[in-house]
Amino acid sequence: MKFYKRVAIATLLVLQVIGAHAIDGYDLWLRMPMVTDGAKVTIDNPQIPETGNFDPQFAPIAISRSELNTFLHNTGRDVHLAIDAKAPADDGFTIKYGANRIDIKSASAVGVLYGAYHLLRLQQTGHLPKNGQTIKERPMSKYRLLNHWDNLNGTIERGFAGRSIFWSSKGDIVDENSARIQLYARANASIGINGTVLNNVNASPQMLTSERLDQVRRIARILAPYGIKVYLSVNFASPRALGDVSTADPLDPDVIRWWGNKVKEIYDAIPNFGGFLVKANSEGEPGPQDFGRTHVDGANMLADALKPYGGIVMWRAFVYAADSPDRANQAYDEFMPFDGKFRDNVILQVKNGPVDFQPREPIHPLFFSMKRTKVMPEFQITQEYLGESVHSVYLAPMWKEVTDEIDMSVGVAGVSNVGNSQNWCGNDLIQANWYAYGRLAWNKRLSSKQIADEFVRQTFTKEDQGVQTLTDLMLATHEACVNYMMPMGIHHIFAGGHHYGPEPWYAPRGVRVDWTPPYYHKADAFGMGFDRTTKGSNNVSQYPKKLAKLYNNVNTCPEKYLLWFHHVGWTQKLPCGETLWDRLCHKYDEGVRAAEGFVRTWERLKPYIDEERYEALRVKFDRQAKDAWWWRDACLLYFQTFSKLPFPQDCPPVRHDLQTLMQYHLRMDNYTAAPIDQLPD
Ligand code: GCU
Repeated sequence: MKFYKRVAIATLLVLQVIGAHAIDGYDLWLRMPMVTDGAKVTIDNPQIPETGNFDPQFAPIAISRSELNTFLHNTGRDVHLAIDAKAPADDGFTIKYGANRIDIKSASAVGVLYGAYHLLRLQQTGHLPKNGQTIKERPMSKYRLLNHWDNLNGTIERGFAGRSIFWSSKGDIVDENSARIQLYARANASIGINGTVLNNVNASPQMLTSERLDQVRRIARILAPYGIKVYLSVNFASPRALGDVSTADPLDPDVIRWWGNKVKEIYDAIPNFGGFLVKANSEGEPGPQDFGRTHVDGANMLADALKPYGGIVMWRAFVYAADSPDRANQAYDEFMPFDGKFRDNVILQVKNGPVDFQPREPIHPLFFSMKRTKVMPEFQITQEYLGESVHSVYLAPMWKEVTDEIDMSVGVAGVSNVGNSQNWCGNDLIQANWYAYGRLAWNKRLSSKQIADEFVRQTFTKEDQGVQTLTDLMLATHEACVNYMMPMGIHHIFAGGHHYGPEPWYAPRGVRVDWTPPYYHKADAFGMGFDRTTKGSNNVSQYPKKLAKLYNNVNTCPEKYLLWFHHVGWTQKLPCGETLWDRLCHKYDEGVRAAEGFVRTWERLKPYIDEERYEALRVKFDRQAKDAWWWRDACLLYFQTFSKLPFPQDCPPVRHDLQTLMQYHLRMDNYTAAPIDQLPD
């Protein structure tokens, strides 16, 4: 079939699927009514025919035209699309909003598509340009990637929205899922995401078998017209695990040849393949150190194999050893000596904080110090540590604590919260995190408020009062979650295994100590908190001088990081005037009060929200408030066994008793979403 026709039919199919649904969140932020008075859309490049069989590289133009024809109201202006060498590069674009015509121009086809989606977003949010206005956009990060922690059997590690949209235990699901995968591509393109890693960083060697690669090829074909490249997580021991070579030593000539051949096989099938993501020598995954080699040896070997095809290696810096006195120190200690030694197509992928996607962490020190290595941050969109898909927590404010401070020009990765649940994310409101991630990857200067406003207008309501109330609610959720889970720099006091509820006491014999909360909170008769000052683990010294000085002093350390960097006495007076114990109690209370407030606010939003999504979220907000109480009572009652101090008088009495909470164990298989009805009330 002619290429243009194929794209048009596929797009129509997606649109029909969208049209057929009730408001169940399936169409994400692309919930646009089809127009009957569509604008006339012309392609201005003579080499791109209006119809007919043209080069697939122009597919984004065909999609742009189809999207604008279908959804852009007639403004009395014809729309002209053009690839123009003088227009912004790097897939940026201009939209010139003239008296009689709208011109969307970019130096690339996909840039035109981004421009088309931008124009539709402006229409949807009520911000169409003024007559004569020209909008110019250029992405701030080159690689804007989603990482899927999807296993080949269809489960998703830390996924709380159903099963994988790419893989299944049944084998091949690409064809039966192609409409969904296409909508996934469309949603991503609409926010500028340009790459996706299709499988878990804890990667199965099976990912690289020819059968699996054929599935990758077919997924890549669905994504490519939307400007999205596919990448794969690879298991470093693949050559050995697949039985082809007796070792996976990166300096062994047979291993080097094996990777060279494998990369060629991939590019023969998928010419626009992006590259590899590698979790090596981390949490039991194989890596170059197994063979007495270094991260540099491993990463550079893969980079050399990918280089001739323009591929990249994203090498993760998430490493920590069981016997380390401070897990937060390790990535810096292990990687800093390698600064400047990686090939130019290697990017070090560093989690936003030095431990692990906690509700709040200080910025990872590697972002300040790796000066001669390409570095990109990794954020977690899926809420492994923030209440899964049950708690509605808008993450943009958390990410901006990092993105505002670091250089993101190389790229950014986000661990996806997408699964095959009807609304993709298991919660209609946290689709906002997928949306916000893409928007910040494109333009980190956007405010959390603006992104929330855009999201709400495109998904829930366009009525100003409703928009205002819902965005205010969203903006308050992250701080509230930090307060009811782990305020003041406390971290990693989650239940073992699933990370949903509180278990600050969790320390069974035989479990690695750095996987148990007492390693992090260090509560004792004197006080609590991890001493990372120069007198403690000296983690502060990994930061630039100014920050190190700030963090090292208990009186200047920001309260939000206090117990991250200091072991503070229970009765010690803090700069705020309260003792640590009283302040802690008040912060937990603040979190609980906020979570209870969300329930009331949501009820006030009823007139603005459709029945189905209103009810689904009402149940979730109710659970979130109950969980806030559960967290507060569990943590304060447990820490009280050390502090031996009474709650301040203005603190409400507890609802639970410690013994009952300690006996409660949430059973969860495969890290699936927490069963709401089995949690303590
Ligand atoms: C966390 C998470 C794991 C994941 C790991 C990683 O520790 O709990 O499930 O594999 O991060 O990022 O590699």
